Amino acid sequence: MTNAMIIGGGSGIGLALARTMLAEGMDVTIVGRSADRLAAAQAELERAAQGKISTVPADIGREEDVAELFARVERVDHVAVTAADATGVYGRITDVATATARAMVDTKLLGAWLVGKHAAERVTGSITYTSGINAYRPNGSNTIVAAANGALASLAYGLAIELAPVRVNVISPGWVDTPVWNQLNIDKQAAFAEMAERLPARRIGTPDDIAQAFVSVMRNGFITGTVLHVDGGHRLT
Ligand SMILES: NC(=O)c1ccc[n+]([C@@H]2O[C@H](COP(=O)([O-])OP(=O)(O)OC[C@H]3O[C@@H](n4cnc5c(N)ncnc54)[C@H](OP(=O)(O)O)[C@@H]3O)[C@@H](O)[C@H]2O)c1
Repeated sequence: MTNAMIIGGGSGIGLALARTMLAEGMDVTIVGRSADRLAAAQAELERAAQGKISTVPADIGREEDVAELFARVERVDHVAVTAADATGVYGRITDVATATARAMVDTKLLGAWLVGKHAAERVTGSITYTSGINAYRPNGSNTIVAAANGALASLAYGLAIELAPVRVNVISPGWVDTPVWNQLNIDKQAAFAEMAERLPARRIGTPDDIAQAFVSVMRNGFITGTVLHVDGGHRLT
């Protein structure tokens, strides 16, 4: 039985990935900070599951949490990381609090590194991280997120060598309709419509678009040290 851990699996892209993996018969553990969010996700996933679903509350930015998370498993086939807390991180550099920027780097980049460190002795198949289009198309109000996302590529290149034959990759989504957009003070539907018109794919991404990319990278034993762009052609615009 293949098993997988999805850190960030309680919502958005991670939740869609959990749904896909369970439907394929894998056993899936979803991880996030909020026990309530995990319980709601578990209740939803159990309805359609073929594989088994379990939850563990943990904060990827806290080393003790990440260490404990992997200490409790003997072996994990695939680890996916979609966790990121972007609260308050968007805005001009002069307006973003340093503590907020540090929290982004601590979770998105150092958290990813912590996963590599504590999964190293347990993971047998792959680790896949999530970066994002803003690393490649920054817009003047997301610089620290872009920097953390960009650095994830180098982290994956390094770990692909260090943890080989475990494969380490990054998925870089374009704009995807998930709950993360609800935190932003914008007209989401208008922004999505405008972006959809610009994109070669002529639409915004769905969580399932990204989940499918995760699964293909996990399953393909010859993909390692790669950033896979799943962005509707956003980098070409
Ligand atoms: N949606 C997009 O348009 C888009 C575009 C490009 C890249 N991305 C990237 O895709 C990834 C997933 O985003 P999403 O849109 O699916 O967001 P989402 O719906 O907000 O999901 C993020 C998940 O991560 C968990 N999380 C946040 N901080 C955490 C922490 N410190 N430790 C453990 N879990 C944590 C959250 O649960 P808790 O709050 O309960 O911890 C939540 O379940 C992110 O890395 C994001 O930057 C998204």
